[in-house]
Amino acid sequence: MIIALSGPSGIGKGFIKEQLLQVYPFIEELIWLTTRPFRPNEQHSNRIHVSLPIFNQCVESGELVLTQKIYGHHYGLKEDLLPSSRVRLTELHPDNLEKAFKINPTILAIGFVTFDFALLHKRLSILRNTESVAEIEQRIAVAKIEIETILRQRSLFASVIEVSEASESSVFDQDSMLNCEWGNETPWREWQDHGVSQVKNTGCSIVISLSGRDLDSCCNLIRSFDKLGIDAYEINIFCSHSGVLHGNLNVDAFHLQQLMKKVHGVTTTPIWIKLSYSNLLVQMAREAENLGADAIVCTNSIGPGMLIDTKTAKPKLGIKGGGGGVTGRAIFPIALWCVHQLSQALTIPIVGCGGISTADHVIQMLMAGASAVQLYTAPALKGPVVFKRITNSLQNFFAKQTEYASVTDLIGLIANKAREHVFSSPLPVVIEEKCTGCGVCTYACAFDALELIHRPGKNALAVITDNCNSCNACVGVCPPKFNAIEESF
Ligand SMILES: Cc1cc2nc3c(=O)[nH]c(=O)nc-3n(C[C@H](O)[C@H](O)[C@H](O)COP(=O)(O)O)c2cc1C
Ligand code: SF4
Ligand code: SF4
Repeated sequence: MIIALSGPSGIGKGFIKEQLLQVYPFIEELIWLTTRPFRPNEQHSNRIHVSLPIFNQCVESGELVLTQKIYGHHYGLKEDLLPSSRVRLTELHPDNLEKAFKINPTILAIGFVTFDFALLHKRLSILRNTESVAEIEQRIAVAKIEIETILRQRSLFASVIEVSEASESSVFDQDSMLNCEWGNETPWREWQDHGVSQVKNTGCSIVISLSGRDLDSCCNLIRSFDKLGIDAYEINIFCSHSGVLHGNLNVDAFHLQQLMKKVHGVTTTPIWIKLSYSNLLVQMAREAENLGADAIVCTNSIGPGMLIDTKTAKPKLGIKGGGGGVTGRAIFPIALWCVHQLSQALTIPIVGCGGISTADHVIQMLMAGASAVQLYTAPALKGPVVFKRITNSLQNFFAKQTEYASVTDLIGLIANKAREHVFSSPLPVVIEEKCTGCGVCTYACAFDALELIHRPGKNALAVITDNCNSCNACVGVCPPKFNAIEESF
């Protein structure tokens, strides 16, 4: 069977193709020959880049089918299109569809169209960021013709999918998760017997993640893995739904002390403590550092959170109480804040986690003070391709931002800037000739930073600079007819 994806440039065929190849490893990709030069960082393995004379030789010797010129470059399919038992996948230009069907009428063609050209423009210019403005305009004009071609040949397609902003936002809604997962389908012995050696054979370091709720089980697991040469243990003591059984261990310093004492009794391998966001996060992390933790991982899932099935009027999650852990994109700003706070309070490294799904998120985490990052929800929802996309985008970032030599240059960059932000908060400016001394703004100030000085005739307003937090509330409440206090930021 041959699956052919057809649609204009930027519509998302490449993304779907990558997902299919990742999820179904038995799918083979058809190989194309092209005279288009190889682009730096290009990952596609389905194109062979050749000179024009070689391409012409292949055409003359009949080695290529579906030859075509696109944006000034020649393309030709190097393989036959005849029906076979293999499952093969390719992108196919709409102009080539009829020709392809003549060779193999069983092709499963899927078309992608859009009538939202602003969206296509956005995708080409912001998301792909590989073409100039003129090239993008040209691609949009060509896209309109290609979409017409697809719609005209609709009967050849198994399905024609319309891509719109609405389909985008539904994808974004799925970037977060509420979970109450309790166990693992893969028994831990599987990791001991096979998983660890498989990872080690790749040359990567290996960190084993364990639960630190049941101290004896945790120590027994460490004893079992320690002989395999583990680089570190990450011990999570809490996740948002585990409180139902174990209580809120995330803020239990006594439990943390017992854990560290027991674990240090059985191993000398580095111990990373994984915490969830809480009001006591910094205190717990400091405690872990004082007790000899080698790194802090933050944050585990946040919550509990809840969703209700409005048809049954019951919680969507089946756990007692209906609460689960919130993860994914929704928690990224909280996770980033946690890392920023921890980086200012600790000397041990921090592993940033929570909602990371793009290279920009990774960069923000590093700038906030993380020395490494973890992802769960994004690859769980979108597949391992997320890692490839992030590393590619990171390479692009460093190619453009030449002031940074490597990721290490980014770690903790924001710390000083953020402190300056607190201490150099611009103060509001009182315009004395306009101020009536009515005092309304003093009630709005939650920081006791405004004081009315009683004077005969007209009160004066003073800003107590040490207290002012630059929240701007006073500027907002001064009646517009007075407009007597201004922001200076
Ligand atoms: C379905 C699911 C299961 C999880 N199981 C564990 C677990 O067993 N141990 C753990 O430390 N964290 C677990 N987590 C938390 C993740 O490791 C991660 O800390 C959290 O989801 C935040 O990162 P993310 O937004 O990238 O997913 C789980 C998360 C999800 C969504
Ligand atoms: S900016 Fe905020 S903190 Fe400062 S004086 Fe105005 S209300 Fe008070
Ligand atoms: S700044 Fe505005 S609200 Fe505040 S005392 Fe003066 S006039 Fe009143």
